[in-house]
Amino acid sequence: MRRKIVAGNWKMNYGLIQTESLIVELKKQTKSSDAEVMIAPTFTNLWHAFEATRRHDIEVIAQNMHFAQQGAYTGEISAGMLKSIGIQTVILGHSERRAYFNETDEALAKKINTGLENDMDMIFCFGEELADRKAGNQEAVVESQIKNALFHLEADAFKHIILAYEPVWAIGTGETATPEQAQEMHAFIRKTLASKYGQKVAESVSILYGGSVKPNNAKEIFSKPDVDGGLIGGASLKAEDFFAIVNAI
Ligand code: G3P
Repeated sequence: MRRKIVAGNWKMNYGLIQTESLIVELKKQTKSSDAEVMIAPTFTNLWHAFEATRRHDIEVIAQNMHFAQQGAYTGEISAGMLKSIGIQTVILGHSERRAYFNETDEALAKKINTGLENDMDMIFCFGEELADRKAGNQEAVVESQIKNALFHLEADAFKHIILAYEPVWAIGTGETATPEQAQEMHAFIRKTLASKYGQKVAESVSILYGGSVKPNNAKEIFSKPDVDGGLIGGASLKAEDFFAIVNAI
């Protein structure tokens, strides 16, 4: 049975006070699904968030990490530092990291290796631009992103990998992929994994959808057989909306 996960990517939002009050509201919510719940506050709030949710069914995760264990990388955070405050899972390859910080598939492969060396789980993000989809190249783009960053791994490594398909044209735009588009791409992703690692590994990997998931569209998207949950941006910043999505699994 694949893990069902709804993760909230808070991106660069909320200082300590707002983080505290959102966590208070999240703790008041009732979970009525079997989804694992994750939240990704900003780095400055990770420790506080981890402490505040220690006895709750909410996992605090990181939005990024550097490939090096330590050293002259001003402004960066290492896997070891995240582990030292109890963080076990990290988001990698988000389209905003790729676009604004020039993170290439090759650089992400190094981060994936570092995460594995530090026994971390990783939510690996990828997805096509609008121009790719308009040209009918979405599958070729996604296949290349997955192969370049992940296909050097041994099959066993996929126990630590959660995939997140996030069509860039759906992120923050309100233009959600249709449930059929999501299912079509998730099935293609699973087929691509199976082509290298076999059906058993392909079936074991959770594939999340991200891109304008909201309370009013989550149920239909999550109902698709190859959609195992969601990576949520804007809607994760409001406790009730986020748990409406969690409970849509
Ligand atoms: O990582 C999730 C994020 O990119 C999706 O953002 O606001 O479209 O839900 P949003």
